[in-house]
Amino acid sequence: MSLDNYKETAKRMKQIQEEQKIVVQKMKQIKYKIAVLSGKGGVGKSFVTASLAAALASQGVKVAVFDADVHGPSIPTMLGLKEGIGLTADENGIHPAVGALGIKVVSIGLLIPSDSTPVIWRGPLKTGAIRQLLAQVNWGDIDYMLIDLPPGTGDEQLTIAQLIPSLSGTVIVTIPSDVSRVVVKKAIAFTNRLNIPVIGIIENMTYFECPDGTKHYIFGKGAAESLAKEFNITYLGGIPIEPKIRESNDKGKVFFLEYPDSPATMAFLEIAGKIRGSVEGKQ
Ligand SMILES: Nc1ncnc2c1ncn2[C@@H]1O[C@H](COP(=O)(O)OP(=O)(O)OP(=O)(O)O)[C@@H](O)[C@H]1O
Ligand SMILES: [Mg+2]
Repeated sequence: MSLDNYKETAKRMKQIQEEQKIVVQKMKQIKYKIAVLSGKGGVGKSFVTASLAAALASQGVKVAVFDADVHGPSIPTMLGLKEGIGLTADENGIHPAVGALGIKVVSIGLLIPSDSTPVIWRGPLKTGAIRQLLAQVNWGDIDYMLIDLPPGTGDEQLTIAQLIPSLSGTVIVTIPSDVSRVVVKKAIAFTNRLNIPVIGIIENMTYFECPDGTKHYIFGKGAAESLAKEFNITYLGGIPIEPKIRESNDKGKVFFLEYPDSPATMAFLEIAGKIRGSVEGKQ
């Protein structure tokens, strides 16, 4: 390595450390930070994150969501942000977009021009983008931050754990299938290795309720509950499958607000209460 290259690398390393320090400081200002994890994609993690954010906000706490998923950012749509409503910036930094119920949203997706732009970023680029964004965002006064992590336990998850050492804990989202058992175990092992508490497991797509009221446990019954018992962690609750959920999400409507009396909305309110009981009790 030439001297110039070496100097350049040293300068960059210093910059990264500075950014890291800024993020750590900023995150300390936010009371409760919860990372939403799933070992597997497509289990409804973003929907659960957005709905929990809405449930918490409806209970009067100030909520922010950081969407760290570079590949499939869906939080802005699920929180009712119309296309074109994005982040703003001034001399005080980047300001979050404000979605339903005043929820502040920062998503890497808001930096990417169009839905159709494929994001082919390698690990260091992704983690760099997360760090730089978090260093520049001016969150204002926030009680709860939910972090929607991409599926799996890789670069982005580790970066978040490093940048936010004051995380209150993780919430693991799964569906009731045998395949998901393996991935949930991975997510628990990952969280334990980082010494972050697991707040609990949420099972999405637990059952489908017919118009006559009968419940069908399409993917099998009780998997998440038994996993929770096995690992001695809290089972936070189950969310039913409702076709209206997919429709709302696709249309950019906020399910939680559109269907306030639905069983899923009720379940989110109950789960939000349990999460608050868990993290606020530990302060
Ligand atoms: N309980 C549910 N009932 C019906 N549809 C649901 C339910 N939960 C999620 N969906 C739908 O399933 C799809 C996947 O949900 P979502 O995007 O939240 O998953 P994800 O785990 O975040 O996926 P990814 O791994 O791509 O980030 C979406 O179309 C969403 O609307
Ligand atoms: Mg998602």
